[in-house]
Amino acid sequence: GFPEYVKIVEVGPRDGLQNEKVIVPTDIKIEFINQLSQTGLSVIEVTSFVSSRWVPQMADHTEVMKGIHQYPGVRYPVLTPNLQGFHRAVAAGATEISVFGAASESFSKKNINCSIEESMEKFEEVVKSARHMNIPARGYVSCALGCPYEGNITPQKVTEVSKRLYGMGCYEISLGDTIGVGTPGSMKRMLESVMKEIPPTALAVHCHDTYGQALANILTALQMGINVVDSAVSGLGGCPYAKGASGNVATEDLIYMLNGLGLNT
Ligand code: HMG
Ligand code: MG
Repeated sequence: GFPEYVKIVEVGPRDGLQNEKVIVPTDIKIEFINQLSQTGLSVIEVTSFVSSRWVPQMADHTEVMKGIHQYPGVRYPVLTPNLQGFHRAVAAGATEISVFGAASESFSKKNINCSIEESMEKFEEVVKSARHMNIPARGYVSCALGCPYEGNITPQKVTEVSKRLYGMGCYEISLGDTIGVGTPGSMKRMLESVMKEIPPTALAVHCHDTYGQALANILTALQMGINVVDSAVSGLGGCPYAKGASGNVATEDLIYMLNGLGLNT
């Protein structure tokens, strides 16, 4: 059955803006995040402490993190692929981080320039350092319903990577349909596999909407007991290392559906 409460993780300022062709000025990003903070959202992903050569849009991560007003009751996680990013994030005032892996070898190579195994070793260092500082760490698994380079990805592989991230101490695993190729059918099969190893309360879904399946996929996940959903205001989003990836499910459309179902958010 449905969960009573659904937590929305707003990823617009990060997943949304990382993919914009025109560099968004830092003060506009700060104003955007400050406005989002006043909407009632409880989690807003702010930026990524990644290489500016790889993702120029996120080059102002430190200025954005330092510049936003941190409202009480709102959490502001940031992406950190390695210890270098983690230390910069902490120096900028981040109190919550996310590592981001993939269930596809080829996507891992293209996105973070290392194999899945190498990425897990880096993430272990990051999550361990975070734990010592009482900083909660979230783990992403990209390509959970398909890969732009390899096509089909097995639920077993998604489960294996998710289990690894959960085992190293990530409190929540966000399962990413990076290029929006999933359907309610593949979402159900993938979750059935992952939920054998990880409780549904520690899982989130992150749906891009390429084929208009995102809300249907989210509904399927909710019916299976998942109660954390990532979304981006106005359907912003995409990944520069996943050609063809469209925006995330729009936060306002997600809230419209959740309100219609009578679920608290
Ligand atoms: P690399 O080139 O392999 O790194 O990149 P390296 O360790 O060999 O270092 C090379 C250079 O990068 C060095 O600088 C480092 O200092 C620098 P140089 O000496 O050449 O001047 N460097 C860094 N700079 C800033 N921050 C760092 C950092 N680390 C090294 N953290 C790296 C490896 C991971 C850094 C690179 O591949 C990268 O930045 N990738 C990020 C890609 C990205 O952000 N993708 C989008 C986010 S994932 C996503 O959107 C999917 C998601 O939404 C879920 C879904 O939809 O599925 C989360
Ligand atoms: Mg994404």
